[in-house]
Amino acid sequence: MTSLKPTLEKQPLAGIPIVGFESRQSDILKQALERQGAVFFAAPSVQEIPFEQNTEAFSFAEKLMAGKINIVILMTGVGTRYLMQVLEKKFEKNLLVEALKKTTLVARGPKSVQALRELGLVPAMTIPEPNTWREIIAELDQNPRGVDLESQTVAVQEYGESNLDFLTALKKRGCRVVQIPVYRWALPDNREPLESAIRKIIAGEFKIAVLTSAIQIRHVLKVASEMGVEREFKTKFKELVIASVGPTTSEGLQEVGFVADFQPTHPKMGTLAKELAEQAAVLLNAQRPTLNAGVQRSALSVKPLGQVQNSLFLKACRKESTPRTPVWLMRQAGRYQKSYRAIRGKFSFLELCKNKEVVTQVTLNAVEELGVDAAIIFSDILVVLEPMGFGLDYVAGDGPVISAEIKGLSSVQKIPNFDPEAELSYVMEGIRLTRASLNAAIPLIGFSGAPFTLASYLLEGGSSKNFIRTKTFMFSDEKAWHALLEKITQLTAKYLLAQIRAGADAIQIFDSWAGILNALDYSKYVLPHSRELLRQVSGKVPVIHFGTGTSPFLDIFSSAGADVIGIDSHMSLDEGWEKAGASKAVQGNLDPVLLFAPQEKIREEVKKILEQADGRPGHIFNLGHGVLPGTPEENVKYLVDCVKKLSVRVE
Ligand code: CP3
Repeated sequence: MTSLKPTLEKQPLAGIPIVGFESRQSDILKQALERQGAVFFAAPSVQEIPFEQNTEAFSFAEKLMAGKINIVILMTGVGTRYLMQVLEKKFEKNLLVEALKKTTLVARGPKSVQALRELGLVPAMTIPEPNTWREIIAELDQNPRGVDLESQTVAVQEYGESNLDFLTALKKRGCRVVQIPVYRWALPDNREPLESAIRKIIAGEFKIAVLTSAIQIRHVLKVASEMGVEREFKTKFKELVIASVGPTTSEGLQEVGFVADFQPTHPKMGTLAKELAEQAAVLLNAQRPTLNAGVQRSALSVKPLGQVQNSLFLKACRKESTPRTPVWLMRQAGRYQKSYRAIRGKFSFLELCKNKEVVTQVTLNAVEELGVDAAIIFSDILVVLEPMGFGLDYVAGDGPVISAEIKGLSSVQKIPNFDPEAELSYVMEGIRLTRASLNAAIPLIGFSGAPFTLASYLLEGGSSKNFIRTKTFMFSDEKAWHALLEKITQLTAKYLLAQIRAGADAIQIFDSWAGILNALDYSKYVLPHSRELLRQVSGKVPVIHFGTGTSPFLDIFSSAGADVIGIDSHMSLDEGWEKAGASKAVQGNLDPVLLFAPQEKIREEVKKILEQADGRPGHIFNLGHGVLPGTPEENVKYLVDCVKKLSVRVE
């Protein structure tokens, strides 16, 4: 034993206690992790119970033999084998195999390929990683083998429970779907190891938890709740490094309020163990809620291609349907948060914006505390004013103070063309570090002010009530006005493109004060510039265009060309959507002041907005304007939970 010690000590996982909830393949996981030196505790959480008298399976076999099935999708290796075992009781194996040969066989992953091979079958189509139902649909849509889905009969070997999103996606493509449930999930007969693991998690005996399928966490929570310790369990579980084998498992975690800290580059147990060991030092160093926690965690987390693209938020931006409505909040990071105030106590606001580690920390805190579906990089729309040559300060109680004297065309012409990559490099570094630190499934939003709103800060020298200086300049010197907006447009476009290159998955343009203008003035003095900005930045990532007070001319505002239109609280969401146009996605629109109201009222209003959205693809839940300082934190969290619960779509 002692001879092993020196080598073990070099291994990053040496002696680290890890709990895993895998069941059937628990031994494989155990060996893979023990090879890295870990001390593994197996807590099987799921058993598969095959349907013995499986009428659906028999009816599938009859259709198959009669040549009525065109495509068979094999979701799991074990399911394929169970299915054959059940069918062989009633049908001759050779005939089944011959009939399967005449169909287009689709294998979701390497294990279904293997199970087919054992039958002497080769799938016509295999699905690329991460092997979720989304990749199956994408492959079928690409139609590489000339498979036309319209009016085809597709049989799906199901496992555990039906995947409604997948079935709906198939039906939308005009297929007839034959479901073949093969086994159902149940808690294991012997729950003792799982109960013991839950007690140990609460006692803080593990450092890492490994989840290898989406159902596991639900079973764990079920048992914790039956033991009467669900709350303690949730609190302690969040303190662990949560390792997920792949995107479906991470989504399952996210659905019940946990965020995976780590996901391997391939959804395999071996890769998981190896990469977990490689990144263990950093992952384990990160202890919430210290300042560097989120930052260190991340340098680790990988962003497997495609995963963030399948996030609820980006799907909604693209107007694709989602199983529930995504939610994030403007100003989700800010003074209403205790954690923000604590950090802000150590830095001035601008120091904070310029320190990439702290930017990352503040951005991630909001995501983790609230469980929102998108992060927004922590910064401010006004930071661009500094490299434009103007003084910028944030004065307690007064808000931003800008020293600028814009008098006519000549002062506009003096504004330098700066390079955002160099002059605002701290923003790009913040984005890069945050992107690397953030859960790979959560999109990161970059942002800027819109030309009009930025011009108003320059001309007013800060926030304003009546915007007298802005409007006076606009009405009295049109030439200088357009030159100023043009200049800001060019600089902002470069700035946003740099943010996209740095890793922003979407961008939002804040035209917070556009609503102080009427429709005609907006069209004449602002729209051409916003349109030009949108033209320059569009097509790379989704673009959200937000304004307040814009409801009287939301149609015109929408015509500027963004993908997603922000709707403030002055208009109901459905009216706003109609005015923005059915081709647009929309974001909004709970009144931020409602977050000061009792929770029943918040719930009622969330329901109202969701009813107005009516499950239509393309709604991102948000406030009508940012979270206000002083908002009770528990109400903000409550809002996010409400949206998640109340918007689940059952089809
Ligand atoms: O979580 C997030 O939304 C990310 C960060 C973010 C901030 N400002 C942080 C911030 C974002 C996206 C903004 C955008 C912003 N900044 C807008 C557009 C959105 C809107 O609310 O209309 C505007 C108009 C600004 C300009 C600005 N910055 C003002 C008027 C103020 C002072 C008043 C206020 O709300 O605090 C700021 C400062 C600011 N920006 C703070 C924060 C967290 C507070 C600074 C502090 O800590 O004292």
